[in-house]
This record gives sequence, structure tokens and C-alpha cells, in this order.
Amino acid sequence: MKTIAVFVGSLRKESLNRKLAQALEKLAEGKLKFNWVELADLPHYNDDLWENPPASVTTLKQQVTDADGVLFVTPEYNRNFSSILKDAVDWATRPYGQNVWIGKPSAVIGTSLGQIGTAIGQNHLRLQLLVAGTIVMQMPEAYIQWKPESFSADHQITNAETKKFLEGYLDSFANWIERHGG
Ligand code: FNR
Repeated sequence: MKTIAVFVGSLRKESLNRKLAQALEKLAEGKLKFNWVELADLPHYNDDLWENPPASVTTLKQQVTDADGVLFVTPEYNRNFSSILKDAVDWATRPYGQNVWIGKPSAVIGTSLGQIGTAIGQNHLRLQLLVAGTIVMQMPEAYIQWKPESFSADHQITNAETKKFLEGYLDSFANWIERHGG
């Protein structure tokens, strides 16, 4: 089974994006294995820390290295993706010459209460992931307007249309990894 390193760009406990990611994990059962990347302890990027790199950084890099693909689930903060994701991307591009993103199939998704469901933040993130060297899935795009009634507390997707759409999204990502993975 393909392993996905999963990055959730919100640190708060009740994050809607984490709930979306958990629902995706449940939906992908038996097809894709989710390996969650813990970002709560990740420091801001600082070259000096390479002298004695924090475990949060070395673990993140190892998870990317070991993964067949990487999935970013991002909130939109002021029409951009969240800064913790920028730090995550930056750390894994360094030290110079040891960028672990290169050639990794990647996909972006996100949710917010707003009608455009993080579209603008996601587009910035796609560009960032391209610059970092990943192979970014362009289609389907997944801008999810959060509707609490569409997701149950145990991470089932209760809205049939949303479930079908997200199943298609995951199938496309699995195919993308199959086609572009190393
Ligand atoms: C937001 N929010 C927001 N929503 C949106 O659709 N577009 C935006 O540009 C912003 N900007 C923004 C900035 C900041 C600093 C915060 C804290 C929030 C609202 C945001 O979508 C909402 O808080 C989500 O619930 C955040 O995602 P999580 O934490 O629930 O995963």
C-alpha cells in the first residue's frame, strides 16, 4: 500500500482541516496509508539549528523521504496558506543539496467556512510545492466549504455527494502517485 505523509496546516485542537484529513484517512482505508507529520513543535526556519537539528525537523524529513506521496491539508489565512506549512516546506529543502521534496508526488486540499473553501491559499501552496520540487497534482482541485452536517464525529462523510467527490480525489491522487512516483 502507498504511504502518504500528511501535513495539516492548523495546530488547533478543533481544526476543521484536521477533521477533513481524518475523514480522508478513513475514506482511503485499504488504499492509502496516512503517516501524520507532527508540526506543533516545528520551529521557524533557522539555518543555525542545523548544528543540532530538532527531532521535529529530522522526523519530518524522514517521513517525506519514506513517503510515496505528500498530502497538504491547508486552512486559508488572509488569502494564503498557513505559515507552519511554509516552515515545513523550507526545512525539508535544506541543507543545500539535501532537498527531500524533489520528485515527490504531492496534492493539496483544504476547507474553510467560506464559499471558496481555501482556493486562494491552496493556489499559493501549489506554487510553493512546485518550487520545492514536488510533482503537484493539478486536477481535481478540492476547495471544500465546511458543512458540519457532512461529517460525523467519527470521521465518516455523511453527505453522499461530498463523499463521492472526495473518493474521486483520493483515487486521482493514488493514480498520480502510480504514474509519477519513484
Ligand atoms: C482565517 N480564516 C479565513 N478563512 C478564509 O476562508 N479565508 C481567509 O483568508 C481567512 N483568513 C484567516 C486568517 C486567520 C489569521 C485566521 C485565524 C482565520 C478563517 C479560517 O478559515 C477558519 O478559522 C478555519 O476554521 C481555519 O482552519 P482550521 O483551524 O479550522 O483548520
